[in-house]
Amino acid sequence: MNIAIIGTGYVGLVSGTCFAETGNHVVCIDINEDKINQLRRGETPIYEPGLDVLLERNIKEKRITFTTSLAEGIQEAQIIFLALPTPPGKDGAADLQYVLGVAKDLSKIITSYKVIVNKSTVPVGTAEKTTAVMLEHLDPSLFDVVSNPEFLREGVAVEDFLKPDRVVIGTTSEKAKKLMDELYQPFVRQGNPIYYMDERSSEMTKYAANSYLAMRISFMNEMANLCERAGANVDWVRMGMGSDGRIGKRFLFPGVGYGGSCFPKDVQALARTADEHEYDFQIVKSVMEVNDRQKLILGNKILKHYQGDIKGKTFAIWGLAFKPETDDIREAPALYLIETLLANGAIVKAFDPEAMPNVKALFGDKVHFAQNQYDAITDADALVIVTEWSEFRNPDFNKIKSTLKSATIFDGRNVYALEKMKELGFHYQSMGRGTIA
Ligand SMILES: NC(=O)c1ccc[n+]([C@@H]2O[C@H](COP(=O)([O-])OP(=O)(O)OC[C@H]3O[C@@H](n4cnc5c(N)ncnc54)[C@H](O)[C@@H]3O)[C@@H](O)[C@H]2O)c1
Repeated sequence: MNIAIIGTGYVGLVSGTCFAETGNHVVCIDINEDKINQLRRGETPIYEPGLDVLLERNIKEKRITFTTSLAEGIQEAQIIFLALPTPPGKDGAADLQYVLGVAKDLSKIITSYKVIVNKSTVPVGTAEKTTAVMLEHLDPSLFDVVSNPEFLREGVAVEDFLKPDRVVIGTTSEKAKKLMDELYQPFVRQGNPIYYMDERSSEMTKYAANSYLAMRISFMNEMANLCERAGANVDWVRMGMGSDGRIGKRFLFPGVGYGGSCFPKDVQALARTADEHEYDFQIVKSVMEVNDRQKLILGNKILKHYQGDIKGKTFAIWGLAFKPETDDIREAPALYLIETLLANGAIVKAFDPEAMPNVKALFGDKVHFAQNQYDAITDADALVIVTEWSEFRNPDFNKIKSTLKSATIFDGRNVYALEKMKELGFHYQSMGRGTIA
């Protein structure tokens, strides 16, 4: 099939590459010329495990090409995906200007039947809005608008896309359904379902899934905070509750708050949708409040430990990305920590395997960027773990102890065993597991 993807970011590039991998001809379109030129040179503009190999193969086989021209890019396409940004607007609602703007542009250049698929995360009713915008210039027989939310996780995006838990397709058009079914069959060969539903339910499903996951995180963060005060260990509590089949083990790890490009904005947008429908969605509001507090918790723990005076002290931060295996720092808890440390006169030395260029673009010389994780702890007063990259899991503790000015670790991700920290003689503070003094 011939596919066009408009918006070649995390979702667009991964989707486009994976559709090409199953034999389709894909044109990826973006307004960012630098990005398109980079891709044409065979360079991958984002860090996503496995993506570069797939991309290289499909570029070589001429199954994927890149352009900045909308008209050229969609010419042959039977299906056009919109993988465009939907950032929060001033009131927290998803800003649809990119989606509706491109829909309008498309309506002026489409000359044969095409399925317009919204892969961006968009609020309930967007398919109808998109259709209305397109109808101003285009005959209804020449297009259908479909909702097909994307559930991939950054860091394992390729694997998630190739083997999705499920595919959700919202459409009431039989013609569009047939084409979408043909496109997705290679991805559901192992019996994972494609759920066909109406557009509104499909749009809502994405917000429900992300908000529910964010709720689990906020719940466990509150549980960790309570465990600390009540003298319980959240690790044991997590295991004890997670082995209940009704609860499940995944997504129960406390930390420094959720971040990334999706959870914060999607939870906010769901709250806004509820407001618009005059529904007081209390849990969703609490999830956001808890997360706002949790993002500051590590900075507050550090300030408390030093009696509020960290001026001139140096903190080594391991991990800046909002989670491991990505260079994405959108809404990353590390950014809030850096702000707190700098505002209180501390010096920050940071290391992240992938995300340092993105953080440098934000903070410039205010943050010192280290060559490697051990370079970061040189002359530091304490080590702070913010993102649980694999390489931080089993470091040379003796080296850490002898390098730090004082053997102090603040661990926002519960990466280390309490017994080990006690045995090695660290001052160790983690999340919901008490303090080892
Ligand atoms: N990142 C994720 O993990 C993820 C997962 C599921 C769903 N989503 C959703 O997918 C959507 C896209 O997210 P993303 O993370 O890929 O965003 P992104 O910012 O990485 O990519 C968006 C791309 O669209 C391009 N763009 C903007 N306006 C354009 C236009 N008029 N024409 C062509 N290109 C244009 C930008 O230059 C950018 O490259 C959002 O709605 C997001 O919520 C993201």
